[in-house]
Amino acid sequence: MSTILTGDRPTGPLHLGHYIGSLKKRVKLQQKHQQFVMVADLQALTDNVGNSQKINDNIIEVALDYLSVGIDPKQSTIFLQSLVPELTELTFHYLNLVTLARLERNPTVKSEIQSRNFQRNTPVGFYCYPISQAADITAFKADVVPVGADQKPMIEQTNEIVKTFNRLYKTDVLVTAECLFGECPRLSGIHGKQKMSKSLNNAIFLKDSPELIQKKVKQMYTDPNHLHISDPGKTDGNVVFEYLDIFDENTAELDELKKHYQKGGLGDSKLKQRLSSILIEHLEPIQKIRRELEKDKASLMDSLIASSEKARETAANTLAQVREVMGLRML
Ligand code: TRP
Repeated sequence: MSTILTGDRPTGPLHLGHYIGSLKKRVKLQQKHQQFVMVADLQALTDNVGNSQKINDNIIEVALDYLSVGIDPKQSTIFLQSLVPELTELTFHYLNLVTLARLERNPTVKSEIQSRNFQRNTPVGFYCYPISQAADITAFKADVVPVGADQKPMIEQTNEIVKTFNRLYKTDVLVTAECLFGECPRLSGIHGKQKMSKSLNNAIFLKDSPELIQKKVKQMYTDPNHLHISDPGKTDGNVVFEYLDIFDENTAELDELKKHYQKGGLGDSKLKQRLSSILIEHLEPIQKIRRELEKDKASLMDSLIASSEKARETAANTLAQVREVMGLRML
């Protein structure tokens, strides 16, 4: 049995990229493993310092998404990062184990800094979020972390911290982890090229209404050279086909459509209609559960607080071990 930890920043509701990249996997994993799922509000604050209201409002949105896709609070411990202060202390100890040069090399942070145009004004907390993520993972002694492809550098950095700590303090209290990718570790946003991301305004959210899904699919990037229906079209790099490959279960028909499109004579709008209906149908049962749960957000918040208390016990155990090997006075 593995121990799994994963989480999401509550900067908005979750989208199809989360679903395909990691949420579906978590629903499966919880049946056989011990799984912790974290709403990473502190990490979200690292680049939203003037926006704490937005982060606080979205905690419940993310929790609603978790439950509606089938993460079961009886099988998984869903918790709120800021209710486990042990994570913050662990982060503080780990900060000394990482050099500035090493932080600078993290490709995910690098590209995030670029896309946010921070330059020299990057908040230090943001710069160091891979270290806080190492605390999240190691506090639960997780050995498996189901995430999207962009999170791989975080796990590599976590494992370096684990090895450095264990070597310096001649111990084995911290354990290394491996990433586990979903069926599609990277889903393109509706405009193509970049990955689906709330901040890039290219996401289809799990809670989007059928009308909104239709509208977004209509805007999807296809083949810019496919101007007339009769033109031959490219299926590679065509976002509609990327999504159909994932969500269309009728693979025989899909193969036919691909051939037809490549030959010419098949219009984008027909394909987009097909994709819209498939997505709407796929999300309908998820949205039905969400509508039920939304009626009682207060009790959902209460359960999140209660399960955070449970998560805290595990993190406190690890922190006690860490303090002990470091020779710190025990609390
Ligand atoms: N970085 C993740 C995201 O961008 C959220 C996260 C925080 C996380 N701590 C984690 C993911 C630990 C996996 C493990 O959504």
